[in-house]
Amino acid sequence: MTSFSNTIEKNDIIVSGVQSTGILHIGNYYGAVKNYVNLANEIDNPMYFFIADLHSLTSHPNPLDLMHSRYLTLAIYLGCGIDPERATIYYQSDVYYTHELYLYLNMFAYMGELERTATFKEKIQKQADNVNAGLLTYPVLMAADILIHKGTKVPVGKDQSQHLEMCRTFGNRFNHYYKKEVFKEPLAFTFTDNLINIPSLSGKGKMSKSDDKSTAIYLIDSDSEIENKIKRAVTDAGPKERNSPLSEEMISLFDIMRVFSAEEIVNEYLKAYADCSIRYGDMKKQIARDAVSTLAPLRENIMKYISNKKLLQDIAYAGAEKANRSARITLEEVRDIMGLTAKNINLQSSN
Ligand code: TYM
Repeated sequence: MTSFSNTIEKNDIIVSGVQSTGILHIGNYYGAVKNYVNLANEIDNPMYFFIADLHSLTSHPNPLDLMHSRYLTLAIYLGCGIDPERATIYYQSDVYYTHELYLYLNMFAYMGELERTATFKEKIQKQADNVNAGLLTYPVLMAADILIHKGTKVPVGKDQSQHLEMCRTFGNRFNHYYKKEVFKEPLAFTFTDNLINIPSLSGKGKMSKSDDKSTAIYLIDSDSEIENKIKRAVTDAGPKERNSPLSEEMISLFDIMRVFSAEEIVNEYLKAYADCSIRYGDMKKQIARDAVSTLAPLRENIMKYISNKKLLQDIAYAGAEKANRSARITLEEVRDIMGLTAKNINLQSSN
């Protein structure tokens, strides 16, 4: 069951992040970052958008690569248009309270459920030589990121649904054990009727940073890189008879087309598929043209931020300060409830 919301209430607190592993692609943009931008522009609720640099450590990046990826992710947030005056933007590793809450929430996460997490099962295939405990407890750190600000709405793509479900479970177990409603139940958020899933150009599965680079369109790809990747996108051999159902590859390509091209154009190509007159070369040229006209201005804006190191540092610093202020309030409450402070000790009665 997918639980998500497409409405924001007055009391909602919005929290989300993107892992700083490699460069963000259009799946990250349409699944998450574009929603951050719109939320920051449209509503006044508190919102926290961070760069999940700690989550990146699960794949053992070399420090120089990690440093560049965190920096680039921040530049991409800003270049895509998140207003740092309206949303708190920070590096996850700058908010130590999150690390502490992660430890406490680990006491409410059980081995069996962590081992059954879909992303864990996927990761142990992809990095079989590095199945570390950080991978196993990845959803717990994610829950800490959200619960540290008492987040209630979490703009994410479809692939994060199970993590959100686990976040609700851990928060509820904590509340239940300590008999206090410290954490609310956060829901995934999207502006649309469904959580977004941008498919891979390989025609199989979702677009992902960890797959072959030619199967994802990155936000800083040049026009020619975008054109070439779309040109090489996997298709089927063409419809054999009228009104054939779309193959898996063509469902993916049409999904990508829907992101960039106008509805009438998509419908024209669907009609051409149904009557077997479709020419995949033309369809790809159309997608490439529309993708370039959407993505080129975004890339240019990102480039302006990449070269502005001082501005990026100032924004990350101010964001960390604000995020720490909110996180500290939650953590002090948590420590108190757990019996980790001296606040409620009555020395007379313990003698
Ligand atoms: P990450 O870095 O894999 O992805 C960041 C965001 O992009 C979305 N996304 C997609 N959406 C649609 N189609 C795709 N092909 C696609 N690929 C990625 C993801 O759903 C996500 O919203 N665990 C998170 C980062 C994280 C986080 C959090 C998110 C850490 N703590 C707390 C929310 C709240 C992750 O790895 O996302």
